[in-house]
This record gives sequence, structure tokens and C-alpha cells, in this order.
Amino acid sequence: MIHEMRPEDVFGVSELERICFSDPWSLESVKEGLVSSLDTWLVLKEGGGLLGYCIFRIIAGEGELLRIAVHPEYRGRGLSKKLMDRLVEYSRKKEVMSLSLEVRESNNKARNLYRSYGFKEETIRKNYYRDPQENAVIMWNRRI
Ligand SMILES: CC(C)(COP(=O)(O)OP(=O)(O)OC[C@H]1O[C@@H](n2cnc3c(N)ncnc32)[C@H](O)[C@@H]1OP(=O)(O)O)[C@@H](O)C(=O)NCCC(=O)NCCS
Repeated sequence: MIHEMRPEDVFGVSELERICFSDPWSLESVKEGLVSSLDTWLVLKEGGGLLGYCIFRIIAGEGELLRIAVHPEYRGRGLSKKLMDRLVEYSRKKEVMSLSLEVRESNNKARNLYRSYGFKEETIRKNYYRDPQENAVIMWNRRI
């Protein structure tokens, strides 16, 4: 089941942030997601557990994927694809023509996932990330 984040999901999303990222967003930032007018936070649940989430932003016909993560014990089962499918569906409904994202250069799993959804690597931003410092790869899909 995939639905927009609700107040009862905030703690679970914050936990996944902590587990999945070296630079996690704070609990406060996750809470702000509940009232954001810009961003859409989707959570994926199975058997009552919150197993994944994604965050994206749509402005003036362009979308940006800000985060996607799946609990480490449930990876490799196609869960991120379910979230990506929903992002694509949502974007088409909102008549979004193109989607972009940035990803750590070393994150081959995510880069493969994005390529399989038609994203192309267009730019490198040198030393963009901290904790640890790393280049960002900017990817676009201009035909959603
Ligand atoms: C990236 C991530 C979301 C993938 O989630 P997942 O549910 O395990 O991925 P799926 O099982 O849906 O696989 C989707 C695709 O991702 C890629 N992928 C997933 N695991 C991979 C692996 N171990 N090696 C290479 N590619 C991999 C493949 O393209 C795969 O498609 P395929 O199975 O048809 O080959 C997950 O690894 C994660 O949460 N990582 C930590 C957070 C993160 O880095 N997020 C991205 C940056 S915001």
C-alpha cells in the first residue's frame, strides 16, 4: 500500500532516514513534510510496517525526486520500483513533462534504478555532497 505520509508515519520515515542516509534529515524536517505545499511525501507499507518512502517536488510542470529509500532488510524485492511507478503516475496526472534528481556518484544501485526509468546522466556537480564529500550526478528524464 502506498499513500501520502500521515502524522503516524513521521517517526517511521525519520527512522528510515537515519538508517538509510549518512546525512539524514531531522525528525523536525520530516514533520514539516506533513504541511509542505511544495513537496509530496509517499510512504510504502506492507504488513503494517513502513518499508519505504519517496519525496518529490513539482513546480511549474517540472518535477524533482528529492529522496527515495527502502528499509535495508526489504531491498532487492522491487519496492523502490513501486514507489517510482507511483511517482511517474502522479507526474503524468499533473502533466509534468520532465523529472530530475541528483544522486551520489558512488550510488550505483540508485543510478541503475533511475536509468531503468529513463533518466540520463547530464551533469556532474563536483564535491556537492558532505558527510562524506562526494560528487553529485544530475539526471533527467525529459519524456515522462
Ligand atoms: C536505491 C534503493 C531505493 C533501491 O531500492 P530496492 O527496493 O532495493 O530496489 P528494487 O528491488 O526495486 O530494484 C530496482 C532497481 O534498482 C537497481 N538495483 C537495486 N539493487 C541493486 C543492486 N544490488 N545492484 C545494482 N542495482 C540494483 C536495479 O536497477 C533494480 O532493477 P532490476 O531488479 O530490474 O535490476 C535502496 O537501495 C535504498 O534505499 N538505498 C539507500 C537510500 C538511497 O541511496 N536512495 C537513493 C538516493 S536518494
